[in-house]
Amino acid sequence: MPEWLNNAVFYEIYPQSFKDTNADGIGDINGITEKLGYIKDLGCNAIWLNPCFKSPFGDAGYDVEDYYTVAPRYGTNEDLVRLFDEAHELGMHVILDLVPGHTAVTHEWFKQSMKAGRNEFTDRYVWTDGIWVHPDGMNCIRGISDRDGSCAVNFFSHQPALNYGFYKPDPDKKWQQSMDDEGPRATLEAMKDIMRFWLGLGCDGFRVDMAGSLVKNDEDGKGTIKLWQEVREFLDSEFPNAAMVSEWGEPDKSLTGGFHMDFLLHFGPSHYNDLFRCEEPYFSSRGKGDASAFVRKYIENYQKTERKGLICIPSGNHDMDRLARSLNPDEIKIAFAFLLSMPGAPFIYYGDEIGMRYVENLTSVEGGYGRTGSRSPMQWDGTTNAGFGSSAPEKLYIPIDKDKDRPTVEKQTADDASIYSEVRRLIGIRQSHKALQSCGEIEFIHAEENSYPLSYLRSSGDEKILVIINPSDKEQKFTCPYPVSTPIYSIGGNADSSNGVITVPPCFAGFYGGL
Ligand code: NOJ
Ligand code: CA
Repeated sequence: MPEWLNNAVFYEIYPQSFKDTNADGIGDINGITEKLGYIKDLGCNAIWLNPCFKSPFGDAGYDVEDYYTVAPRYGTNEDLVRLFDEAHELGMHVILDLVPGHTAVTHEWFKQSMKAGRNEFTDRYVWTDGIWVHPDGMNCIRGISDRDGSCAVNFFSHQPALNYGFYKPDPDKKWQQSMDDEGPRATLEAMKDIMRFWLGLGCDGFRVDMAGSLVKNDEDGKGTIKLWQEVREFLDSEFPNAAMVSEWGEPDKSLTGGFHMDFLLHFGPSHYNDLFRCEEPYFSSRGKGDASAFVRKYIENYQKTERKGLICIPSGNHDMDRLARSLNPDEIKIAFAFLLSMPGAPFIYYGDEIGMRYVENLTSVEGGYGRTGSRSPMQWDGTTNAGFGSSAPEKLYIPIDKDKDRPTVEKQTADDASIYSEVRRLIGIRQSHKALQSCGEIEFIHAEENSYPLSYLRSSGDEKILVIINPSDKEQKFTCPYPVSTPIYSIGGNADSSNGVITVPPCFAGFYGGL
């Protein structure tokens, strides 16, 4: 694992919504470069950039038309290289979003593969051998090609699936190729070339979109794991410092595949939603939530994957509701005390550090649908368009939160009691205690069913830190083999121990050392 991941705190940037420097209503690469100082000052030392490549933007850029070129609306390849360089000068790393599973229908590969005659790209996508032959289990594109076949899609119906083969091709379905066939091999080589290109220009790694879905009919992920192991070998030999994080949600599989990190997400078996986004989230002060299923699954993953890589818990992302849709500012602060004291590299979705809200009732933008409200422009200050850019408001890519009390960076950086100040403090504490960082161990002390608080011990070498998190608005007690004294960090008062029982104030989080 690259050294720098030990202490990485990531900041996810949705490029179209971060900072617009040329008043066209869309964020751009130069805007991100301009704001590197802000991200660094918050304490984040790494950035994940959502796709910024040429695209028809039917899925906000997750429909890539040209993997080698920055979308003109964001700037140029040179602008992106300057972003890498300036980030590196500040001691920060930048990872790009690799979308290996599908392309846009406008990608040259797909145009070629739609032709009736055989060519280099005929087998680049998962095509059946007749227009009425359905790629079982998958949706498909049909009726737009001269080629007599239908093409499997991965997500939206305009995202044709790249062909990495079938784990066990059905011998009666000649169109199903094996992973070792020429077409699938060429697809994988093409992906490696794309990685080579950007890593060669100074990018520090990739977040990989739908990483678990590449090989088809691969129920247990065995074929896809094998494929990523091959990528791991390639990276180890050519770019050993490149960091890889998968959108997979099953760390036991992805880390076996050679990823350094995997996300716990709103889909998959992680119970991540129980914490932040369900009817009674654990982090709501109502105190009706349950973190125990999450913890059980976490321990299971942690034991299966120990030391192979990191399990990463994001504050949110461009696919989920904003934290602020289900939690109030005080609850968000406690949620961050959890997020920033867990193992693995934390990922903060832009704007979550100021409690940006989900903007309700928006018309879908670029395939966002219900996700659009979590993708609104970053709110910097009290100037035009909240400082996002100086275009006419109606030209904005997505409308800004119209509430006059909307949070901004300007207000929150000036307020010691803001979410921003809490997040900055928490990152600072994490950065100065190895036990709290990515690779520190974790042992759960209290994580009972339907019960508060949540408590765990983080440790690294001789350093041990007891974390106590009580989002509920009631005092709680739990038995604990460790006493508490002066906290390294606390919000909401202080806990107290006597005779092996710790009494925890309501709406509280605290970290205790000296154990
Ligand atoms: C996951 C991405 O995060 C999401 O935004 C996208 O729509 C799908 N993958 C398809 O690429
Ligand atoms: Ca712009």
